[in-house]
Amino acid sequence: MKILGLSFFYHDAAACLVIDGVPVAMSEEERFSRIKHDSEFPKLAVKFVLEQAGLKPEDLDVVVFYEKPFFKLDRIMRSALTTFPLAPRVFVESIKSLFTKKIWVRQIISEELGVPAEKIFFSGHHYSHMASSFFCSPYEKAAILTIDGVGEWATTSLGVGDGTKIDVLKEIRYPHSLGLLYSASTEFLGFEVNEGEYKVMGMAPYGTPKYVDRVRKLLRVNPDASFELNLEYFAYHLSHNRSCSKKFFELFGPPRDRASHFFTRTSGWPSYFGEKPGPGEYEKLAEQQEYYADVAASVQAVLEECVVGLANQLHKETGLTRLCLAGGVALNSVANWKIVAQTPFKEIFVQPAAGDAGGALGAAMALEMVQPNAKRSYTMMHASYGKAFTSAEIEETLKAEGMAFTRASSETDLIEQVTTALEGGKVIGWFHGRFEWGPRALGNRSILADPRRTEMKDIVNTTIKFREPYRPFAPSVLAENAEEYFEMPNAMNHHPARFMLFVAQVRADKHSVIPAVTHVDGTARPQLVFAEDTPRYYKLIKRFGEKTGVPVLLDTSFNLKGEPIVTSPKDALNTFMKSGMDLLVLEDYLVWHP
Ligand SMILES: [Fe+2]
Repeated sequence: MKILGLSFFYHDAAACLVIDGVPVAMSEEERFSRIKHDSEFPKLAVKFVLEQAGLKPEDLDVVVFYEKPFFKLDRIMRSALTTFPLAPRVFVESIKSLFTKKIWVRQIISEELGVPAEKIFFSGHHYSHMASSFFCSPYEKAAILTIDGVGEWATTSLGVGDGTKIDVLKEIRYPHSLGLLYSASTEFLGFEVNEGEYKVMGMAPYGTPKYVDRVRKLLRVNPDASFELNLEYFAYHLSHNRSCSKKFFELFGPPRDRASHFFTRTSGWPSYFGEKPGPGEYEKLAEQQEYYADVAASVQAVLEECVVGLANQLHKETGLTRLCLAGGVALNSVANWKIVAQTPFKEIFVQPAAGDAGGALGAAMALEMVQPNAKRSYTMMHASYGKAFTSAEIEETLKAEGMAFTRASSETDLIEQVTTALEGGKVIGWFHGRFEWGPRALGNRSILADPRRTEMKDIVNTTIKFREPYRPFAPSVLAENAEEYFEMPNAMNHHPARFMLFVAQVRADKHSVIPAVTHVDGTARPQLVFAEDTPRYYKLIKRFGEKTGVPVLLDTSFNLKGEPIVTSPKDALNTFMKSGMDLLVLEDYLVWHP
């Protein structure tokens, strides 16, 4: 059975092709359109997934959309009615949305693909999230927790997966939403909603959670871990472009200026910010920014309390010890690790596109599992589901751009040259195989450097256009060496660590060994690399380890600030030329910066 799963119109549009219960290709639309968080119909991603399997739209048995547009409309309309006449503009805009294309999804899919309307199905938003996690997990039975901003109505769902079935036990509904609380804080802290949430998580370790009491005023948590937001502090239910109300600002003061540089006395003033202010001014600016770091730490701490509380409740209700997580909040790798550390769930699973892009995968898997005689035959072990490029395509690009290049004589030769460059302090653009599913680069479209050099943080930040200190670099480590470097007992069994979805402490004796990937609070977000899943990347790290004694590389996504991760050799070359990277490796081809 050939199923195309789609998500679009709200956050990250994506397409996923599942054949006989196994995802064969999937991608966010932004990777091809080059528009960050592109939410339009994923034309190019659909084209790719079909081509990857040699299919045409008419070969598809069904197409499934990741949510139910009329249920969503119901929520939008009812919310607008309850806020009228308090927010007349929201009411008018919501009425207008009745007539926008967003509810005519069936017709749009049918017209875009030339697929008859009766082949098009819909899966609930949270059900798609749950399916994207449980049906890709190695577990026959597990509890499932989904937490996001909002889909149709649900913002948090608790459920159980058993074989091919998922039962939803309970849900918390809009406007009470941990995702929206975190997004409101993201806006307050000077970042874009739906984009800057991970920056809040990265900023938190620079502060101390001094203001948890204030953050706790924003919501009431019940004994069964369900919660209600105090809506007086928020504006997202009254406005299309504001998340925080006046009362929020009365509680926390003015929002952080988006244009201000974030630094603290701990981070210091990075060289790439330009000239350091004089001592008086420096202290004043640092103090201002430290306040926001403390707010970030407090919001993160309360989020963790809520997530841990929900997980504990889910364990209490189900008695299960395995947990599948999904929804945008499941990308909060700090909270994910807290679940393992502080609840009876000792094994958890998160697939790398846990946000709304993953709905395309979940919707397709959900539909597969309701077929007669459906059975589970798949576990997601890696994220390499995007497009790969041939040597001929790479060579053609390099020649067309007039680039001087060499070609390694073998994989061994390539790895020898690249590890020598890394050891020599070079920053490398690494392009290999099929690009990754989800927002993380995991060694297929990565920027790599030597994690032993403290100065690499600054060098890589400057090289790739001034990323801020709250954006820590992650270590890729050979799976079998992970426990030597990180406080992660049974590291190889922690599935989310394959996808950089856990944050763990770096062992005290290793802080000085891998300083460039150790965050300010002594944590890191390691990726465990397995030989059977990403063999070339594994060999590269292994050889680097043989040469240096440290089987770890600094890995960050191959993109400039604010751009999608590179997809094609041409994207990689453009990014390479605009950045200060030293060496670009496109499969077996090497290009040194002129
Ligand atoms: Fe969602």
